[in-house]
Amino acid sequence: MQISELETPALLIDLDIFERNLKRAADYTRQHGLRLRPHTKTHKVPEVGRRQIESGAVGLTVAKVGEAEVMLRSGTPDLLVAYPVIGASKLRRLAEVARQTRVTVALDSEEAARSLSTAAVEQGVGFGVLAEMDVGLGRVGVTPGPDVVALAKFLQSLPGLSFEGITFYPGHIKKAGEDGASDEARLSQTVRGVLDLLRHDGIVPNIVSGGSTPSLFDCHTVDGLTEIRPGTYVYNDVNTVVSGACTFDDCAVSILVTVVSTARPNQMIIDGGSKTFSSDRLVGSTALSFGRLVEAPGAVFCNMNEEHGYVNLEKAERRFAVGDRVRMIPNHVCAAVNLHENVYGVRNGTVEVTWQVEGRGKLQ
Ligand SMILES: Cc1ncc(COP(=O)(O)O)c(C=O)c1O
Repeated sequence: MQISELETPALLIDLDIFERNLKRAADYTRQHGLRLRPHTKTHKVPEVGRRQIESGAVGLTVAKVGEAEVMLRSGTPDLLVAYPVIGASKLRRLAEVARQTRVTVALDSEEAARSLSTAAVEQGVGFGVLAEMDVGLGRVGVTPGPDVVALAKFLQSLPGLSFEGITFYPGHIKKAGEDGASDEARLSQTVRGVLDLLRHDGIVPNIVSGGSTPSLFDCHTVDGLTEIRPGTYVYNDVNTVVSGACTFDDCAVSILVTVVSTARPNQMIIDGGSKTFSSDRLVGSTALSFGRLVEAPGAVFCNMNEEHGYVNLEKAERRFAVGDRVRMIPNHVCAAVNLHENVYGVRNGTVEVTWQVEGRGKLQ
């Protein structure tokens, strides 16, 4: 099928760029002796997970049990659930996943650890566990320092669990390269301090797991890191470009939309709004801009209703007519992908593959 035959809105993945993104991350981690365990929340497609493993990832990461169930279909040798799993029925489902592949869970509380241990014993399975620390985002994780040692010791004491190491998410680091260097240096110091404390108590983690897309190519500067979990890097988006971790040439994703109205001067309406793109603004910006118009980057995607996108054309390089089809790169690809049933892998004007987004809406 040709791209021109697709109905809109349609989320396109440029396969040449996607494959280059996979290779670049795999080459980087190999070069620096880091293990790559990509977060699959960005794509939610088992086949994409399979390709990540084929290109050098050692396993995959998910946030939710439902995503873990879906990602089993990728054939991954293991899964990291980078989210505390709370609740008996979810733990039973996770035990079922653990019968099919090795499962490691990141957590930051004795409650989460105790219930995971109980589920492991009752269900006759084993779980790996990572002690999560908060390195600056202020979301989950104990404070770096003695609290990490205490959590690690507690994890070591519980039946059914094998303590594998520590984890953190440096989501507070929004800039790559030079601009993020001082944050990376502070992070490195924090990690080193915690590793020293753990070693003092005779604890040597097998896994020190971190990483994100903005920090992807700076991860080798973090002392003691053994593996990274970038997610967005697989497709990239406007936020990644703004972070400095990639250029627009590295954005594999764009959403094909149709111009449905030009009734107002200097404006066009496209057939995708918040149910197509999500309403996510640019990270760290108050600008009203929901994506980048590939055909005229001077245009401003300035407003949305659920099914209408408002594009201001005052500064656009060209004009458009009703029926024209244009491509918009979303601000935040992970949130956009979760809204689509299928994504279309394209090359040279042709739809080469259709991937069902099997993990979309798997929030439980
Ligand atoms: C725990 C965790 N690890 C890894 C990632 C991947 O980060 P990024 O999307 O910047 O690649 C995320 C993203 O939300 C996350 O929450």
